Amino acid sequence: MMQGNEDGWYPVAASTDLPFRHIFQTELLGHELVVWRADDGFVNIWPNRCLHRGSRLSVGVNDGAELVCAYHGWRYANLTAGCTYIPAHPSDSPPRTVCNQVYPSTEIDGLVWTSLGPSGRLLAPEGLGGETPLTLRSLPINATIEIVASQLGTYGFEAPIGAVSNLSQLGLVSHAENHLLFCSGQGTAAVSAHFILQPSRTGQTVIHGLVTPAPKESLRLSTLRHYNRQLTRFREEVESGVFAEDQTKPEAHQPPLESALLGSGGSAQGAVDEEFEVLVAKKWMTAAGIAGFELRAVAGGLPTFQPGAHIDLHLPNGLVRQYSLVNGPGIQDRYLIGVKLEEGSRGGSQCLHEEVNEGNTLRISGPYNNFPLRRDAPRTVLLAGGIGVTPLLSMAQALIRSKVNFALHYFVQSEDHLAFSELVDRLGTRAFIHTGLSPAETLDLVKGLLGTYDSLSQVYVCGPPAMIGEVRNAASGLGWPVETIHYEYFKNETVVDDDSTFEIDLARSDMTLVVDAGKTILQVLRENGVVLSSSCEQGACGTCEVAVLEGLPRHQDVYLNESEHAAGDRIMTCVSRSRSDRLVLDI
Ligand code: FES
Repeated sequence: MMQGNEDGWYPVAASTDLPFRHIFQTELLGHELVVWRADDGFVNIWPNRCLHRGSRLSVGVNDGAELVCAYHGWRYANLTAGCTYIPAHPSDSPPRTVCNQVYPSTEIDGLVWTSLGPSGRLLAPEGLGGETPLTLRSLPINATIEIVASQLGTYGFEAPIGAVSNLSQLGLVSHAENHLLFCSGQGTAAVSAHFILQPSRTGQTVIHGLVTPAPKESLRLSTLRHYNRQLTRFREEVESGVFAEDQTKPEAHQPPLESALLGSGGSAQGAVDEEFEVLVAKKWMTAAGIAGFELRAVAGGLPTFQPGAHIDLHLPNGLVRQYSLVNGPGIQDRYLIGVKLEEGSRGGSQCLHEEVNEGNTLRISGPYNNFPLRRDAPRTVLLAGGIGVTPLLSMAQALIRSKVNFALHYFVQSEDHLAFSELVDRLGTRAFIHTGLSPAETLDLVKGLLGTYDSLSQVYVCGPPAMIGEVRNAASGLGWPVETIHYEYFKNETVVDDDSTFEIDLARSDMTLVVDAGKTILQVLRENGVVLSSSCEQGACGTCEVAVLEGLPRHQDVYLNESEHAAGDRIMTCVSRSRSDRLVLDI
């Protein structure tokens, strides 16, 4: 029988067990856990298995922002445990539902605590939460938590030599659940030893120990040895004792992979269409005409994002606009976006620049990624035009983490237009700034940078539509296959023609509808109760895509490339129409 309580809070590691870039493995109530500290200091506690094949994550790599499974390289983000990259599918963005379970973590006075089913907040154990204690070496004992607690309560611990107290024994002062407090002496002469028990699995308990006050530096080693000797002796006595609990079969509980894939661990992944309330924690001018916004969750956390992802921002004036995340990997406690004040703004960027301020709250969607980044190319070229640098900065930071060779070329009108310059600076010699070039000069330079296709490279471009079009044509002309040319349009400048009338058959819904002139397929679907996600609604983001089973689409989007247009098996329902009288859609 497993002792302990799944709602309870237990220590599972000492803070000293978690140096940066290290991975710690432990168990709690039979659940195997992986515990790791990200470079921002946050301690992640997850089930110790990869969602792919169940391999132990504890034998992976902590790169400071993500935990990488050693077997097939699946990457999981700091804070959310969402999967950010699957090397076997380098061109795809892992669905947001691929997310490991997350347990809460709290660090108090040198111990890391968690709960498998937390009810309420962890309160600092009595007598702790003040001065920094000395953390003893944690000690596993082959005995149940009840046996360890009862025998520990009667154990005669000797006070360490040199302690300020002149008493030779520590006496039990309190025993609350899994926390036993021993003291020697009173007032300023008091020496306290806290022993806090972790029920790791059936028949096994870990004793974590803290001593207050921490002895002065010259006595630390001798104090550690003193307690370690006594705890080791205690363990030998308990393990050779008469306890006759059923300890034969250590249990290893792991939640089924399916439940973890759905993000059931209380992380902030949310349903795919879920919205989140965020606080504008910071707003600043990052470049001429470009405002930076730092958005933090009002409650809970923010979902995992992948480099290249964007969010929908719901503005106070009712408009919805898309903005790419600038975040580097592992930065999960906030989203960073850059907003350029567009000339002739229809109220989107203007509202954000003029009406939205620090302290305001906004609603956002979870991140979508239509611009996924491969992390397996020997050479990656990132080409940014103006505000198009935002998703590419996120990619650059991810490539550094993944130790992938890349160069970012950032084209701006002048130095004043250089956004997020502090992030650009951190890229060092991988970043190249090109200022004040004409479109023709830019194109010449881009052709030189790309060179004839070498079968090793990938290129990513984001910026004004004209620049993206020029780069795509230039790369194609130099022999780059379409699948190596990645781009994201922020807007579709195609003049959309909506004059035609045609029929759509919805194969799975058994419905036939008419799309009249002046209406989009998306509108007609919604008017007839067919729910379909959308985001930009101008043929740039790919969210409203539907598969075409029969008929000839008339593409008016910028999301699909030429060969995808030619294939005719997908359509952006927010702008594209039909060249045939009838389209059969896979809805
Ligand atoms: Fe963005 Fe249709 S909603 S392409």
